[in-house]
Amino acid sequence: MTKRPRIAVVGSANVDMITFADQFPRAGETIFGNKFDLGFGGKGANQAVAARLCGAEVFMVARVGDDLFGPATIANFSKLGIDPSHVRQVTGVSSGVAPIFVESSGQNRIIVVKGANDALKPADVDEAAELLKSVDCIVLQFEVPLETVYYTIQFAHKNGIRCILNPAPAQQIDLAALTGLDYFVPNESEAETISGMPVRNVDDAKKCASHFLAKGIRRVILTLGSNGSLLATRDGMEHLPAYSMKCVDSTGAGDAFIGSFATFLGEQFPEQEAARRANLYAGLSTTGVGTQKSFYDRDRFDREWASRQ
Ligand code: RIB
Repeated sequence: MTKRPRIAVVGSANVDMITFADQFPRAGETIFGNKFDLGFGGKGANQAVAARLCGAEVFMVARVGDDLFGPATIANFSKLGIDPSHVRQVTGVSSGVAPIFVESSGQNRIIVVKGANDALKPADVDEAAELLKSVDCIVLQFEVPLETVYYTIQFAHKNGIRCILNPAPAQQIDLAALTGLDYFVPNESEAETISGMPVRNVDDAKKCASHFLAKGIRRVILTLGSNGSLLATRDGMEHLPAYSMKCVDSTGAGDAFIGSFATFLGEQFPEQEAARRANLYAGLSTTGVGTQKSFYDRDRFDREWASRQ
């Protein structure tokens, strides 16, 4: 029987306010949108939900605000079977929110207001230490303070726990602080911002991945949207093409990749197969609207995977 992975996400939870429109308004212009959707999001929470739907046992370490969204977010974790014992409400602060705009091509633009996510500190990681020591993998993103991300990477390294970082949203960082990581998983624009190198195609992605490896990061997966992903280690690089899909909303596809990849790896698939499976899982998420709502459960995913072999 496949091992059931135990995964902790130390990260963000937001509420997404998604507006669909044919195009984006220019400065000073008012236009009509076509549709609106309100849903639970946040890169950390989305990755937790993807891992859970893929079959992992999932634990969330996060902070939510002193508003209607806070308790609703905690209830959503419980409803989905994600352990929220280390998700706490912070007094006097709003929950994280994300106004999101999606064009008819499925392309999105997102503004994140971090709110309570900014209150997740290294001391909160210490408070969750017993739980964190019991998991196989810790997953991180950049919607919580960088000091917490760096601290958690060290914690994972010290305790021999696999650690995956999705550096989103991108910001200038100290790459030397990431050398304890097992997997660094940026998309093209995050890789560009962090490396200062252009990533317009697979060849650019290879050069950029070499840059990260040369800085001491052990394994890099560059997600490339409709171009699939690039798996890069010191032993070599492999481009893994995307599966063909009719995209209606790409929001959360990167999160779907990370949460599913963490689960497939935890089930002990070889990393190349785990990444190919995650490519498909992420692609499937773009065929539905919203973030968490568009993620497939394991049975649906397994049927798709089988039909595409
Ligand atoms: O990656 C998509 C997510 O980015 C959205 O759910 C939004 O909340 C922002 O965090």
